[in-house]
Amino acid sequence: MCGIVAYIGKKEAYPILIKGLQRLEYRGYDSAGVALIHNQELNLFKKQGKVSELISFASDKDTSGTIGIGHTRWATHGAPSDRNAHPHFSGNSDLAIIHNGIIENYASLKAELSQRGHQFSSDTDTEVLIHLIEDIRIKAGVDLEEAVRIALNEVVGAYAIVVLSKKNPDMLIAAKKSSPLVIGIGETDEYYIASDATPIIEYTKNVLYLNDEEIAILKKGEELRLINIKNQPKVPYIQELEMQLEAIEKGGFDHFMIKEIFEQPTSIKNSMRGRIDLNKGIVSLGGIREYKQKIINAERIIIVACGTSWHAGLVGEYLIEDFARIPVEVEYASEFRYRNPIITESDVVIAISQSGETADTLAAIKLAKEKGATIIGICNVVGSSISRATDAGSYTHAGPEIGVASTKAFTAQVTVLSLMALSLAQAKGSLSDSKLRQLMVELSTIPEKVEKLLNTDNQIKAIAEKFKNARNFLYLGRGYNFPVALEGALKLKEISYIHAEGYPAAEMKHGPIALIDEEMPVVVIATKHGNYEKVVSNIEEVKARNGKIIAIVTEGDTEVKAIADYTIEVPETDEALSPLLTTIPLQLLSYYIAIMRGCNVDQPRNLAKSVTVE
Ligand code: M6R
Repeated sequence: MCGIVAYIGKKEAYPILIKGLQRLEYRGYDSAGVALIHNQELNLFKKQGKVSELISFASDKDTSGTIGIGHTRWATHGAPSDRNAHPHFSGNSDLAIIHNGIIENYASLKAELSQRGHQFSSDTDTEVLIHLIEDIRIKAGVDLEEAVRIALNEVVGAYAIVVLSKKNPDMLIAAKKSSPLVIGIGETDEYYIASDATPIIEYTKNVLYLNDEEIAILKKGEELRLINIKNQPKVPYIQELEMQLEAIEKGGFDHFMIKEIFEQPTSIKNSMRGRIDLNKGIVSLGGIREYKQKIINAERIIIVACGTSWHAGLVGEYLIEDFARIPVEVEYASEFRYRNPIITESDVVIAISQSGETADTLAAIKLAKEKGATIIGICNVVGSSISRATDAGSYTHAGPEIGVASTKAFTAQVTVLSLMALSLAQAKGSLSDSKLRQLMVELSTIPEKVEKLLNTDNQIKAIAEKFKNARNFLYLGRGYNFPVALEGALKLKEISYIHAEGYPAAEMKHGPIALIDEEMPVVVIATKHGNYEKVVSNIEEVKARNGKIIAIVTEGDTEVKAIADYTIEVPETDEALSPLLTTIPLQLLSYYIAIMRGCNVDQPRNLAKSVTVE
């Protein structure tokens, strides 16, 4: 949440900052702002709303300068407004700061600073931090680097910050703890800083991911210097980015979400690449090879995640228990960490996260680590905080996901979980060779089946047209497709703002059935091998109460077709792998309904892609 970007070099900073903010806008879009130094002046432009508002606001102003910082905000402390927009200034307007994270002890710091005469012009925690830095710099008579370092020792919470000073017009100071920060090393004298690599990729591939409590000092004409908040020098580890620029552009699609839905044949294939050898009959995930025995011997596996990744975790539970016969529990990371869970050294925790930055998941990992559990990560973003906090893991290789609603990341996570379950089953001998081989072959054919499924696009558009004005939706599924029902409901509500609930189909009669009338669309996943007859009975129960049925069925189905109002066919596959197919029409349905309702699908209200606050 919140995207930060900064530049120091020889080029004009403003266009770089604006482009960077547009790339980071998925992280929050409540307000946007930039601060630039030009002719010894520190100029500030900030506006409530999206980056486009900032662009119009600044269009007739002088935005010159070769050093600057920019921010796009997802509001935590203080409502979205011009005054709460970042960058924030120190009291004497010498310093400017951008910040992603939360300063938890801001209230006590603010009270102390107020007593010492500081006056604040926003409701944010961030402004308190820049006042604190100013206070230390003046009172202790230290330079800016030292003032930042001392201040960071006094704050509790999460931060990725960049500080700019009028008195030091050739320097940026960046630091992070629990919120991500990447530094791109450009040509001589030139540095790019951002919350993720997307604003940097078109300028340089050489990057440094800051670690927690590290401070980078970037000066024109000098090499980057790195220390930690205890003032110990650190050696920068510069790595090469693998991301391609095309991957973060819309490439002819109207929205990132639909582009990402259509990328799934490729992203699923990429998640499998090099991990299934059909000739040798081997499934292997290199990243966890050394930990395989540990996982097999685990007392239990605990999967922690949030949102869509949690839904993937539920599919993972079914897969691992079914194939490898290891007990699995799936926990919301946010609940897990606060409920004093029993964790032992023989537990294995699998943390799933697209962004690799979700604060709750990171905190759950930290807790499990302290208690001695082994931590395995399933992340999409290479080099992200979660991928670095785990003992081992497997990347999903879905490529950058920009749309706030997660689509290709989900199917990539389920693909990796399927591979993991198969590889554990193979090592443990819990599946027969023939079953294992059949599943491996089936999994390998999923990308082409997804490709075929995406051709039902127009049919789904027509269904969306019928139900675009519905006020509620119910999603039902059983077994492997219960998590898909949850995911379908989440997708619809987050981008179309229609209330939707996912339920295990059989649970409907224990309450939600009371909601059913002729106004209620019910999406039912009724694939051939998944408790089919029972689901058919559930459909009959809905029909008897005049509910409208949209059924996801296996190709060639006739029984459900005869009773449902609308059916969407998915290619036949093993039930355990069916979530990789049944999810796709639900993503498309949500997308088209949201578009028809005029919603901003890539940036739904109140949401952010990367939830780096607890
Ligand atoms: O980056 P993560 O996978 O850790 O994110 C978890 C959730 O915030 C995320 O899946 C969220 O629910 C999405 N908006 C769902 O589309």
